[in-house]
Formats: sequence, C-alpha cells, structure tokens
Amino acid sequence: MTPLIAGNWKMNGLHPATAEVSAVAAGLAAAPARGEVEVLICPPATLMFPVRDAAAGTAVVLGGQNCHSERQGAFTGEVSAEMLADAGAKYCIVGHSERRETCSERNVEISAKADACHRAGITPIVCVGETRWERNAGKAVQAVAAMLAASLPEESTGPLVVAYEPIWAVGTGVVPSTGEIAEVHAALKALAGPGVRVLYGGSVKPENAAEILATPGVDGALIGGASLKAEDFLGIIAAAR
Ligand code: PGA
Repeated sequence: MTPLIAGNWKMNGLHPATAEVSAVAAGLAAAPARGEVEVLICPPATLMFPVRDAAAGTAVVLGGQNCHSERQGAFTGEVSAEMLADAGAKYCIVGHSERRETCSERNVEISAKADACHRAGITPIVCVGETRWERNAGKAVQAVAAMLAASLPEESTGPLVVAYEPIWAVGTGVVPSTGEIAEVHAALKALAGPGVRVLYGGSVKPENAAEILATPGVDGALIGGASLKAEDFLGIIAAAR
C-alpha cells in the first residue's frame, strides 16, 4: 500500500501560507523518490481554492478538515462534502478528536459525514483515539475499536482511510510506544478490512517519523503542527519514502 502522509493545518494559515504548499511541491519534485508516497494537505476552508491552485500540476493532493453530512441547505457556517469536492478535495478528515471534544460530535454524526464523503466522491479519513484515562486503564484497544465500529460509513461503501490519534498524544509531544501503536493498528485493520490504510497521528515530527512509519500496521501519518512548515513536513515525507 502506498503510504499516505497527510497534513492537517487545523485553524492555522492566512493567504501567504500557500507558499508552504509550493515549497512542499518543489521539495517533492527535487528529491528522487525511493518509494511511492501520497502527500495530502488539509488547509482551513478559506484556503481551499488558493491551495488547490498552488498544488495544481504537482504531487500534492488537497483535502478538507471536516464536512457536514447534508448536501446543502440551511446550515449556517457549515461546508458540505460536495463543496469540498468542488474546491478540489480528494479526502476529508472526519471525527477528529478536536471536533469530537469542542463541537461534541458523536460517532453517529461522524458515520454520516463519512457517508457524505462517499456521496461526493471523496475519501473519508475517519479519526479515532482513546483518552489518557482509557489508556491507563488498559482499555485503549477496546475504546478505539468501539469508536471506529460506530464511526464507519453505514450507508455507503467506498475508499476509506482510518487515523489512530490517541487524544493524549495530539499536540503534546508525547507519543505511544511502537508496541502500543502496533497493537491498536492491528485491531483497527481487522475492523476496517483489507486495503484500508491506517494512519498514526499525534506529535509526529521529522525526528520520530521513521520509527513510527516503520511500525507494523502503520500505513502513513496524520500530522498537525509539523505540517505547517514545508521543511518539517518534507522531513516526515522523506522518512516515508
Ligand atoms: P499534532 O496533531 O501532529 O500537532 O500532534 C495531529 C492531529 O491532530 O492530526
């Protein structure tokens, strides 16, 4: 499976940040690839079109960070999967822990969003992860598997990516051991089925990327902070090639 290296810019980036996309594209073109890798950038909604333009004709693929489950309508402030597709998105993150926490998104809504992605011809990246409490209680695998089972698309089949992001590792600089990652990924792969890439996310940096990406069951990474600067992001991509 071709590894997927996905950048999640979160609520970061004004118009000049599109220069980072050009720098990533230039870096990819300049470095001789030892192996295939798919590179995705998920900017905030305001930057979808300029990032699409900066990525046009390059190896960088565009994705969204969230979508609504409905196609269109009276949902002030929301963006549909069709709108993301219209802006050039090929993927959309759904169920990120920050949305589960700050926007109270539930599994049933995330499942509907994943269905909406398929309806719009986009690949959903379904995120799951345990709390620190669940990890300490020895319930991480159980919690994450239950979350994924309830968050998968219900009404549609189509291409799918899963991201394992332990909540306590997101933005903290703390990462699970490779043994812990491998254990969860094995469980998620069994649930998601063959051909589904399972990414690891949570404090991935150029310094730890090679070890994480070499862990059994890890098919790529979802990167927050270290995706904002082309140099860091390229360092992680290099570890995947
Ligand atoms: P981080 O974020 O790389 O900054 O820890 C990962 C994510 O939230 O996708």
